[in-house]
Amino acid sequence: MIETGQMGLYFHWPFCLSKCPYCDFNTHIRENVDRQRWLDAYKCAMDFYAEKLPHRIISSIFFGGGTPSLMPPQTIGEIIAHAQKLWPQVNDLEVTLEANPTSVEAEKFAAFADAGVNRVSIGVQALNDNDLKFLGRQHDVKAARRAIDIACKNFPRYSFDLIYARPGQTLESWKNELDEAFDLSGGHLSLYQLTIERNTPFYFAHAQKRFAMPEEDLAADFYHLTQEATSKAGLPAYEVSNHAAEDHQSRHNMNYWRYGDYIGIGPGAHGRLTLEDGVKYATREHQSPDIWLEWVGEKGSGAHPFTPLSRAERFNECLMMGLRMSEGLNFVRLEEQGACRWQERINEERLKTLQAEGWLSYDDERIILNAEGLLRLNAILPYILLEAGEGGAKSAA
Ligand SMILES: C[S@@+](CC[C@H](N)C(=O)[O-])C[C@H]1O[C@@H](n2cnc3c(N)ncnc32)[C@H](O)[C@@H]1O
Ligand code: SF4
Repeated sequence: MIETGQMGLYFHWPFCLSKCPYCDFNTHIRENVDRQRWLDAYKCAMDFYAEKLPHRIISSIFFGGGTPSLMPPQTIGEIIAHAQKLWPQVNDLEVTLEANPTSVEAEKFAAFADAGVNRVSIGVQALNDNDLKFLGRQHDVKAARRAIDIACKNFPRYSFDLIYARPGQTLESWKNELDEAFDLSGGHLSLYQLTIERNTPFYFAHAQKRFAMPEEDLAADFYHLTQEATSKAGLPAYEVSNHAAEDHQSRHNMNYWRYGDYIGIGPGAHGRLTLEDGVKYATREHQSPDIWLEWVGEKGSGAHPFTPLSRAERFNECLMMGLRMSEGLNFVRLEEQGACRWQERINEERLKTLQAEGWLSYDDERIILNAEGLLRLNAILPYILLEAGEGGAKSAA
């Protein structure tokens, strides 16, 4: 079978100017980065995937990190051009770049647009200077506002990230901050609850009680306030943490959540690829920037051996991703991944119980979790999945 479908293309740039104390992404601080060597490596890694996936069409490109806005615009332009040489693209190709709002990076926005970027996602994180300091950011609110202004002038679509449920934050101050965000918004906002990740400076500071996180009830109130305020402002949630006006959704991320294929290139990047044998594979590139570069130099790829996904794994992943979206999860897609009827892997009685609780709804076509259900997503998944062998689920195949 020849796979001809669309796919996304993700590039991970693993460097930042400094490490934020809450962040556990695969990022490193480096004085000097050999620009040419990295460009050559990204191109070579693309050639490796193009050989395995010659007939695909690119629907989106995403530069994430780390801080890919530290890359020279010329490098970004050359990576996009190389991808376009290897694969045809859809007419409305979405090319997103994650950017930090420091002045140096915002000054490069026009050059990024010339290089082919048509969407930026800016890490604003907070709209008050005290909290920006607490979060260890390199910018202040003035710089963030300026970066948003420059983004608005240079890109047809842009988004920015805010982190909420911060220590000491009140519901009222978050509501005011959200109102400011709506004024600045270009149609898309990513709003994340602060999470304390293991082995980050915040993890140790929190364990030493140097700050306190909001209690569970207050955190839930923050979440509900966010859902209500964004809906009223015309930016409803289309995924747990992502809010957008019509046509402003991130197409690249929608493809992840709809369980489409994507290539992940760069240290620590993951991918999901259906190859010519019809099997879907999980791909994972080496975490370490130095080893990744070495592997690409020596073997043409920084990827570990691909892992074939069983039908049960495909079903579970598709379910987990799809339930995050407010459009819900389409049963046809789920059954295609699992090669089985959905009732063979999901406990319908339990689905009915959750429906009666008012946390989700389902019909012949799809399951949709509402805001209450999304708050409980991590508990709902294991609750509704049948154990292997239960309810007629086939063994992993
Ligand atoms: C890859 S990171 C950021 C990209 C860019 N370097 C920046 O900081 O602006 C993507 C987003 O994840 C969010 N994030 C990272 N760690 C988080 C945490 N522990 N809790 C909540 N949000 C987090 C931040 O909003 C961040 O902008
Ligand atoms: S939040 Fe962004 S800038 Fe800060 S360490 Fe993480 S990736 Fe780097």
